[in-house]
Order: sequence, then C-alpha cells, then structure tokens
Amino acid sequence: MDWGNRFSRTVTDRLEDSAIALMMREAAREGALMLSAGEPMKELYPVEQLRESFLRVLSDESNYWGYSKYRTGVKPLLEWTERWMREEGLLPGWVEPENIFITNGSQEGVSLLTGALLDPGDTIMVESPSYPDAFGVFRRDGVILEGVDLLPDGPDLDAMESLLATKKIKVFYTIPAYQNPTGFSTSDEKKRRILELARRFDFLIFEDDPYRNITFEASPGGTYINAAGDDERVLYLGSFSKVIAPALRIGWIVAPSPVVTVLEKLRIAGTLCLPDVIQHALHDLVSNIDFNKHLEKICLAYRVNRDAFVDSLERHAGPEGLEINIPSGGFFIWGKVPWIKNAGDFAMYAIKKGKVAVVPGGHFFPEPGKGNGYLRFSFAQVTPPMAEEGAARLARALREYRDLQ
Ligand SMILES: Cc1ncc(COP(=O)(O)O)c(C=O)c1O
Repeated sequence: MDWGNRFSRTVTDRLEDSAIALMMREAAREGALMLSAGEPMKELYPVEQLRESFLRVLSDESNYWGYSKYRTGVKPLLEWTERWMREEGLLPGWVEPENIFITNGSQEGVSLLTGALLDPGDTIMVESPSYPDAFGVFRRDGVILEGVDLLPDGPDLDAMESLLATKKIKVFYTIPAYQNPTGFSTSDEKKRRILELARRFDFLIFEDDPYRNITFEASPGGTYINAAGDDERVLYLGSFSKVIAPALRIGWIVAPSPVVTVLEKLRIAGTLCLPDVIQHALHDLVSNIDFNKHLEKICLAYRVNRDAFVDSLERHAGPEGLEINIPSGGFFIWGKVPWIKNAGDFAMYAIKKGKVAVVPGGHFFPEPGKGNGYLRFSFAQVTPPMAEEGAARLARALREYRDLQ
C-alpha cells in the first residue's frame, strides 16, 4: 500500500516532526549526556505515595470501570484544585469548581481551547521564542502565528501594540512564569498593561502556567486570570506534570461556563471521557501528603541543580562565548553563543562528536530562520556531577566546532 497520497492535508501540509523529539532520539542513540530534557527528575516523583493512593482508590467499593459520568472531571479533584488556586491568590471571584475542566495534561488543554476558540485562518499572537509543541497545535488547526519578542520581564509591549494595530489578533498565548524556553517571567505591571491591550483590541488570553510552582527565590507574580477580575477573557491552563508526574496526564483549564460547555462537547467528540481512577488517585495523593512540603522538597532539589548547572556552564562554556540568563524558577536556562551561525548544526555536532545534547534555539521561534546562536538548557534532570561533566563536554564541543568554521 502506498500511503504517501492518502494522508489528510492537515498531516501533509501543517504537521512537522517534532524537531526536539528527533534530536533527543539522536542523542539517545549516540549515548549523549542530555542537558535539555524538559521532564522532571525521576527521583522526585512521589512513587511510594502514588502507589498507596492507587491501591486505596482501587480497593474501595466504587466502580471505576465504566465510562466516566463526569465530563469536566471528578468532583473532589475539581474542588481541591479550585481551593488550592484560590488559597494561592490566583483566582478571581467568579471561579467555582464548575469552572475547572480536567484535561489530559495541559497539552490537551491547549488543543481543546484552540478547537473551541480559533478557526483556520485566525491569527494567534505568541511570545517569540515560546513552546514549540503549542505551535504544533495552532498550526495543525490552520491558525496563523505572529511572534512578539520576549524580554526578561515579559513581551515587548511596543512590538505588541504595533502588531495589534495592523492585524486582527484573536488570542494571545503566553507562558507567564519561568517560560519555556527562556526561564523569563512576565512582570505584574506588564500583565496589567497587556490586559488593557486585550480589552482595547478585544483578544483572549491563553495563560499556560505549568512551571509556576517550581520557584527558587523570586515569586513569578500573580496570574493574568486573577488580574483580569470580572473580565472573563483569560483561559488558564494548569498542569500536575511538573510537580507530581507527567505520566498521570492530568492538567486543567479554568474557564467561564459557556466555554466549559463547549469543552464538554469537544471532550465527547475527541475522547468521550478521561479515566476517573487516575483523577481519584491524584486527589487521594494531594489530600494525604503535605503538598506544600512536597513542593518545597522539589523546589529545593531543582534549585541545587540550577545552581550547579549555572556554575558549571559559566566556568567551562563562558570562556567559549556562552552567555546565559539565570532563571529564578522552572526548568530552563536560555543560552546564547553569538558566534554560532547555525545552532542546529552545532547541536548535531555536539551530539555526535561531543556526546552532549542541547536543543538549538531556532525550534522555539515562530518565525522561520530566527534564533540562530541560541541554545536551550534544562537543569531538571541534571545533577551537579552531570552538570560538571556536561558543561566540560559542551565547552570542548564549542572549541572544536569553532576551529572547524
Ligand atoms: C509551556 C508548556 N505547556 C505545556 C506543556 C505540556 O505539559 P503537560 O504534561 O501538562 O501536557 C509543557 C511541557 O513541557 C510546557 O513546557
């Protein structure tokens, strides 16, 4: 069978292989030391407690083996999530547990919101750089991407205003806390001014916030959704992937009731329902552990990783021209090597010859050809000894690669 001309135009014209996944596969094949995986450190998964929670849930009398009756998610988890966010001061007055919609990770949340609120040919404004797997969703659905430069305190407001003046923007997609890939957080003052622009130019905001709770020194500030108050134009996306475990595939959307109703329709058309049993186990877990203590523990571990990673990169690769920002939370360090003309080419060289893997910056820019000279690092899975070895390999790869230019 020749499958070549049977695929939909969505597949052939709009979807690309995830360049990062391809790179990581190559890195694994070459046995390279990974300095860029955006996945939690496996030692930080609460494995014992998860096992106990699943066992407790599975041994109770309820029947979890039918289709779920709860199209938005199981009630105790909706209530817990709403209460937790409210206690953290992240929610406006109008949000009730009915405004929480559980998703298969926040990735599905991005996909559902796109299906609910964007048509092919609509334009979405994104930070440049930003998270490429969200770009994949927008492109799959025929949505046009427009980038606005991201500065260390948030998007460039002048650039945003000029774009808004020339193009109808339906949605702004933002990662306001410890952004992927830069580690930057948007200041509360900028959030306030962007909300003013949102009202003036009448666009919605998708606030993708999976890194908020991985915080080291400075707080990432408040949420757009809370700052917007009664103006219900912010759709918030949360995730348990980075703070508990991505394999649970549990995230959530906070949205006004009319949007939740549409999300329920999309849920049925897409997957019918999610498994209740995982949501009950997650609720059991967060109710039975000291969740704040768990967060403190993981933040401390990631902070140790960050400090060592920054120190090793600066000592080894700094002299080869690497400049980095130091993030105050999240997983990512954004690096720049001004003399590198093609970061993709360098990253492949580093994997093959230097046995060290970083992600080239170009993947994170919505504009083709932008981002040369940038590299994304993640310290999430990189312990201090790995950071030392990885940075030394990177520095060697930089030296040898420069000699070849
Ligand atoms: C900004 C951002 N949004 C969403 C996701 C997807 O997370 P989840 O596991 O909740 O689907 C990621 C994962 O790396 C991310 O970095």
